[in-house]
Amino acid sequence: MVRSFSAIAKLGIFLGVGIAWSAVIAPAFVAKPPQGGAGLEAGTDAGVGGLRGSQRPDWRKTRSEGTGTPTAQLGLAALGVGLVALGTSAAKVRLASPARHLVPLKDSLKTYDAAAVRMAEEAADRKTLQKTLEEVSESFKRKHENIDKAAAEASMRRPILEESRTPATTKVEQRAGGNLAQYDDTWHIVRDGETAPASATWSNCRIDTSTSEYAETSTANASVPCSGPRAWMSQSLIPLDYRVVEVPRGKLLDPACDALIFGHLPFGSPERQAAEGKAQRRLVVIDETVDDLYGDKVRAYFEARGVVHEIMRLPMVEEEKSMENTLRVCKKMKEFNIDRRTEPVIAIGGGVCLDVVGLASSLFRRRTPYIRVPTTSLAYVDASVGAKNGCNFCESKNRLGTYVPPAAALLDSSFFRTQEKRDIANGVSEMAKMSLMKSKELFHLLKDNAPRLVETRFEPRDASDDVPERVLRLSIETMLEELTPNLWEHSLDRLVDFGHAVGQNLEMKALGTEHELMHGEAVACDMAYMSVLANVLGKITAEERDSILSMLRTCQVPVYSPFFTREFFREAMEDRVQNSMGQRLPLPAGIGKGCVVNDVSDADFEKAFVLYEELCKQ
Ligand SMILES: NC(=O)c1ccc[n+]([C@@H]2O[C@H](COP(=O)([O-])OP(=O)(O)OC[C@H]3O[C@@H](n4cnc5c(N)ncnc54)[C@H](O)[C@@H]3O)[C@@H](O)[C@H]2O)c1
Ligand SMILES: [Zn+2]
Repeated sequence: MVRSFSAIAKLGIFLGVGIAWSAVIAPAFVAKPPQGGAGLEAGTDAGVGGLRGSQRPDWRKTRSEGTGTPTAQLGLAALGVGLVALGTSAAKVRLASPARHLVPLKDSLKTYDAAAVRMAEEAADRKTLQKTLEEVSESFKRKHENIDKAAAEASMRRPILEESRTPATTKVEQRAGGNLAQYDDTWHIVRDGETAPASATWSNCRIDTSTSEYAETSTANASVPCSGPRAWMSQSLIPLDYRVVEVPRGKLLDPACDALIFGHLPFGSPERQAAEGKAQRRLVVIDETVDDLYGDKVRAYFEARGVVHEIMRLPMVEEEKSMENTLRVCKKMKEFNIDRRTEPVIAIGGGVCLDVVGLASSLFRRRTPYIRVPTTSLAYVDASVGAKNGCNFCESKNRLGTYVPPAAALLDSSFFRTQEKRDIANGVSEMAKMSLMKSKELFHLLKDNAPRLVETRFEPRDASDDVPERVLRLSIETMLEELTPNLWEHSLDRLVDFGHAVGQNLEMKALGTEHELMHGEAVACDMAYMSVLANVLGKITAEERDSILSMLRTCQVPVYSPFFTREFFREAMEDRVQNSMGQRLPLPAGIGKGCVVNDVSDADFEKAFVLYEELCKQ
């Protein structure tokens, strides 16, 4: 009874002092004029506060920034509010389990100063509590004055910090931008001012903590967040690496070549050595048409190399680029009991096959490695090189998909031998795109050689003829240059979109008509119009424009379609602007040089349209 009475008295004192704190002492500090722009984040984590403050978008501004309230004052006010809450909460839960209910509050207060909270909690009587609070107040004032000073200094150093993206600590070099250290077999956040054992392993990932922007505000001062909810910014740098490996023409299905089994592992790497010493199993998914043409060789290859295998044959044409087919591949992976660490699924076919198997692999057990073997000229230089996969859904092209690159794309251009000429030219159009945006050399190689490359399906004339391989190599490398730094297409300013602003709409518009266009053909019409537009805008000369149009014609692709009307163009551009958040039109800015343009007027579009019809309509 006595104990319970004294507990109530103690809690009452807590409550009273807490209210006094928040009503009198904390506001006195809050009334101080703002010092610098650093917000609450800087107060609790001064070293990175300046950095984050400057990088945070407007909508994430903390309340402290909104009012210009300095960090230290918020910390002090939060302590007051926290103590009120502590008292209130303790009083409420007296008959329940005080210890358990107080834990979250104590934890949140610990953010400010665990020792201070402990002292306040341990105070035996009113006098001690008052004295403790005075000490806490003094110590907080001193501490936060220092933090404000540090934050102000940090904000002055901001340009340098932003450049290096590392907090101002003595361990900058070690941390390499991260604040997570592994020691004692686990990972720890190492905040500024803290250290980790010298033997620790530093990650370049980081976790930054701040007060949640949804933290409730005090009733006394709406600009002061309670100490409760926090927000964590977790930044993981996930390495995504994949190989794109050419083999000499005709060698991929030669049992003497081990690329199909081990080519995804870097040559001489420990993983490759380990794999070479073990029996191998592979699931192969192959397009029906390709199976008819190359299936025997594929089977003979795996037999000869003693690889346990299963071959799944599927109709991989655009109409079958579906979730149903994707799930059939997933089911087969389950039945094959695939080992996702050591048994990449192999996809052999055109872009449809590679996209469907890529999607299935990215779904199966969240990510199972796969290998792309492109068998069309288009898939060789386009679908095989990037990270995208997908299938059509609800009558929309590639509506479902992921950005998960293959373990490797294994390239052998001898598969082109069985393609129709028109199919080869379809892929050459994408090569022309890369030449116009990025490579003068590729432009001239195509201008001088495209007809015979299409005619011979990239077969070299003789051993000294390196034109076919140079064309393919330049197409792939320029593509990789654009894709690697923007693998997830965060930037919508993509030169590889040249020909695709309205090209895909044109492809859809012409589908099923007597003027049906293959993808590369529709892209070529778009490139032709855009090159004329670039000339109208003064980006290229009339000679350059004519040279581009002539090169496209040389590639055996159309530069005009009867569906390319004013009305079509207007609608397609509306789609473009909506999907790409602006025009973002990649245009030639010379031969082998591109630029992205955003502010083309209707008058210039119309001028270009008239000229385009004049130059390209047969
Ligand atoms: N993921 C990407 O980044 C990316 C990029 C470009 C295109 N794509 C996708 O790729 C698809 C287009 O690819 P595609 O042009 O390779 O078409 P495709 O896969 O539809 O193949 C075209 C036809 O050629 C047949 N074929 C395949 N290889 C052959 C060979 N060696 N000899 C004879 N016939 C052969 C196929 O059976 C099919 O009938 C589209 O669905 C497109 O969305 C994806
Ligand atoms: Zn394309």
